[in-house]
Amino acid sequence: MKPGQGPASQEQSLLARAGVAHAVSIGEPSEDAWIEVIQKMDAVYAELVQNQADLEGKNAALEEAQTLISSVFSSMADVLAVCDRLGRIQRVNSALERATGLSEAELAGQPLSAIFDTQSADKAGQMLARLHVDGAVADCEMNLKDPAGVPAPFAMNCSARFDHRGRYAGSVMVGRPLGELRRAYKRLDKAHRELQQAQQHLVFSEKMAALGRLVAGVAHELNNPISFVFANMHALKKYGLRVRRYLEAVNAGMRGDELEALREELKIGRVLADIEPLIDGTLEGATRASEIVQDLRRLSSTQAEPAEEFNLKRVIGTAASWVVKTARAKPEVALDVPEDLTAVGPRGAVHQILVNLIQNSLDAMAGLEAPIIEIGAAQSGEWIAIGVRDHGPGIAPEAMRKLFEPFFTTKPLGKGLGLGLYVSYGLAGDIGGQLCASNHPEGGAVFTLCIPRTQDRDAA
Ligand SMILES: Nc1ncnc2c1ncn2[C@@H]1O[C@H](COP(=O)(O)OP(=O)(O)O)[C@@H](O)[C@H]1O
Ligand SMILES: [Mg+2]
Repeated sequence: MKPGQGPASQEQSLLARAGVAHAVSIGEPSEDAWIEVIQKMDAVYAELVQNQADLEGKNAALEEAQTLISSVFSSMADVLAVCDRLGRIQRVNSALERATGLSEAELAGQPLSAIFDTQSADKAGQMLARLHVDGAVADCEMNLKDPAGVPAPFAMNCSARFDHRGRYAGSVMVGRPLGELRRAYKRLDKAHRELQQAQQHLVFSEKMAALGRLVAGVAHELNNPISFVFANMHALKKYGLRVRRYLEAVNAGMRGDELEALREELKIGRVLADIEPLIDGTLEGATRASEIVQDLRRLSSTQAEPAEEFNLKRVIGTAASWVVKTARAKPEVALDVPEDLTAVGPRGAVHQILVNLIQNSLDAMAGLEAPIIEIGAAQSGEWIAIGVRDHGPGIAPEAMRKLFEPFFTTKPLGKGLGLGLYVSYGLAGDIGGQLCASNHPEGGAVFTLCIPRTQDRDAA
């Protein structure tokens, strides 16, 4: 036993620890004091045991939490890095170790930018700088350097972390691999853009082709009346000169045989007889030209076309001539339409549908030596049915189902856009009619357009 550690001093220190100070000062401790000391010692001991149990409990909880965090870290498919306030890596998870091919020990202490490729390393710096302002940066696409040095795309999210006093303590960065999905999306996006461009080109070239057909048709239509207006005007000018010469002779007092001879020479009788038909012809030509211009106005108008009474034979004839004039191989067009068949409705729409149907018939007979398009029309009650038949190969069963779908075409690129029947079907519905397709028992396709004879829907 060491000096000062005899029973008396042991007793005093025990008493002191138990808070029984007076026992020392009054000499021999009483039995009560001892009991009190022992009780206090028991309490201290129990408290110690309790503290130890608490500590062990907390330790176990801490270990559990640590195991949980480690298992979460290692089971995460996303990469994770924890950085200190200077942006140096403190901890990483196994996904990041795998993605970079570097261990946590190798990465610890390195700047965050070290795990990215050159381009993304700058972004990492900016991302950390933004954290101080925004607190978090979301969905930033960056490339990690994989073990082979190949950039691997990740969507990075980074948020600031704070210490218990609320001061900036560093950051946590989590990244989700974009890899195959992003590449597939990019390929899809690129293909989509290319398709859109191709479609725009197609629409543009189809518009140009339609414009070309329209211009050629209009040019031909206008050429006829204008040429006979010209011819008539030349004749009238010549006749005018002759009449002038004759009248000047009359005014100058020429009489008798001399005047008669001049009249004969200038064929004044024929001139006078010709003037009226010439003027009528000229007027007719001018009227025709004006009608064509009105037709064009109607076609280009975006407003709903007003209903008017029109002659079916005339509209069918114009539509057929528009198509035929622009065709290389001129087909024979056989019309079986009553002269006086009329309908009341939007004439331009009927014309446009017929142009599309006749154009398709012509296309279907490309390569045929003597193409014939048969167009018939008949009235049945309040309806008028117009049939356009060709002698081509007819419509294949699989095409029959898709005929009226937009962009369905069996024609080569640049030849057809697959909008003709789609537009015609819509137009037929707009005017209260119907368009249907079938194959003729003796070959070739038949398209039938049914339109109400009047605008009186109830009667139809
Ligand atoms: N008279 C027809 N004979 C055979 N097939 C036809 C006929 N008319 C249309 N078709 C088919 O319907 C498709 C769609 O026609 P359409 O909508 O006018 O577009 P496009 O003429 O631009 O191809 C054509 O590509 C063709 O396959
Ligand atoms: Mg077509």
